[in-house]
Amino acid sequence: MNFLSLGIETTCDETAASIVLDGKVILSNVISSQAELHAKYGGVFPEMACRKHIDDILPIIDEALEVAGVTLDQINLISVSKTPGLIGALLIGMNTAKALSFSHGIPFIGVNHVEAHLYSAFLANEEPIPLPALGLVVSGGHTFLCKIEDIGSYKAISSTVDDAVGEAFDKVARMLGLPYPGGPEIEKLAKIGDPFKYDFSIPRVKSDPLAFSFSGLKTQVLYAIQKVDLGAEKANIAASFQRVAVQTLIEKSLRVLKDEPYQSMVIGGGVSQNRYLREALKASLPEVSNLFFPTPNLCIDNAAMIAGLGTALYQKGSKGDSYSLVPSPTGAEKILFS
Ligand code: KG4
Ligand code: ZN
Repeated sequence: MNFLSLGIETTCDETAASIVLDGKVILSNVISSQAELHAKYGGVFPEMACRKHIDDILPIIDEALEVAGVTLDQINLISVSKTPGLIGALLIGMNTAKALSFSHGIPFIGVNHVEAHLYSAFLANEEPIPLPALGLVVSGGHTFLCKIEDIGSYKAISSTVDDAVGEAFDKVARMLGLPYPGGPEIEKLAKIGDPFKYDFSIPRVKSDPLAFSFSGLKTQVLYAIQKVDLGAEKANIAASFQRVAVQTLIEKSLRVLKDEPYQSMVIGGGVSQNRYLREALKASLPEVSNLFFPTPNLCIDNAAMIAGLGTALYQKGSKGDSYSLVPSPTGAEKILFS
């Protein structure tokens, strides 16, 4: 086929560009993380993020082209994140994509970043993923279960009623005095802690047993912290929180799998990097022999998932987007299931 897509990702604090061949073969995947820049603020500082994206976007695209050994004129499609994210950051990626599209006569397509997190497992695995698949998104902004009927065709199952699981990891890390981003820090610290020291409970959502809730768990952690000598208990609290957060994800997934047969399960989003989550899912869902994760470099925000998904959707008959497309900071889940 020899169809080349340039992917551009600037939803939050990573500036990323990638070249993907035929929606499947990653020729380059360049990511410039701003994590260090934001660490001293304990979270992403939007204005600083935008300024850094402006500085980085063109050099990162140049690097992606150079590593892949191609020129812009060989690119068949420009794929760019259109939702969700910081509006200023999204606009930088989108306007860069439009400018390159216009000046080089290349079609462009806006891609839902959350959908791309789900697509990462399809990109990472050589073998075709059997469908329908149960999709689980575990990211910093989203936590939901859905039925993947095909790429581009999804049915909502359940979602979080409050915080996303990644957000809960970040907030608990902050309470424990750990640096941002907190997810990997909790995972590291949990390795030396006792996951059963604290008997945190899985928060229930009365109106919907499949729905997730993480803010109650965060509050349980806060109360535990207030009662103990934090220095001595940090690792035990981190490990106990991680166990219950992961157990929540597993419990809801099991409920869905009990009622409806799926050919496979696909996990995506930043938290899917977590080894404890991966091992616990494999151990708890032995009946789902087809469990698909992205490789670690595709779990984090990256542009390969954007280029890959853009190609898949474009080749399915989407004509690409017009220059009137505007990015949307919120509503990604609604858009995905509409
Ligand atoms: O998918 P992502 O980039 O976020 C959105 O698109 O919204 O994921 C970022 C989230 C952060 O909350 C981060 O703390 C979490 O993923 N994360 C982890 C791990 N690595 C990243 N959480 C738990 N364990 C990890 N190893
Ligand atoms: Zn993301």
